[in-house]
Amino acid sequence: MSLLKAATEVRLRAYAPYSNFKVGAAIRAASGAIYSGCNVENVAYPEGTCAEAGAIAAMIAAGETQIAEVLVIADSPLPVSPCGGCRQKLSEFGEGGVKVTMTTLDGNAQTLTLAELLPGVFTQAHMDRS
Ligand code: THU
Repeated sequence: MSLLKAATEVRLRAYAPYSNFKVGAAIRAASGAIYSGCNVENVAYPEGTCAEAGAIAAMIAAGETQIAEVLVIADSPLPVSPCGGCRQKLSEFGEGGVKVTMTTLDGNAQTLTLAELLPGVFTQAHMDRS
């Protein structure tokens, strides 16, 4: 299955009654396997989770830790842009060169790398004092 197909399908199962903005995300991990996730909102709004977080959780639950490629899709006028928190979350498991394709349902797509999406990413090195 392609990243586009996986993200498109999982998006339909998003739980987004508050924003009415359904998002699907798919990750191809180092093994080649694809993991997908959708946003899951909550009546306590900050408790909602993004599609990317769901896809990462599925990848980790399957025993993989290395992201090779990402695709995010939404019914948006512009290619849907991962939020700042998700950029950091993706960077935990993906190198800077990992490609992230952001797309609308009608194929208005843009591809950037994780490094382009999150210049100055916070890393373990920022905590190393020795
Ligand atoms: N959202 C995602 O799931 N991923 C993104 O890349 C952008 C935003 C969700 C969070 C919330 O459920 C809804 O979209 C509106 O912000």
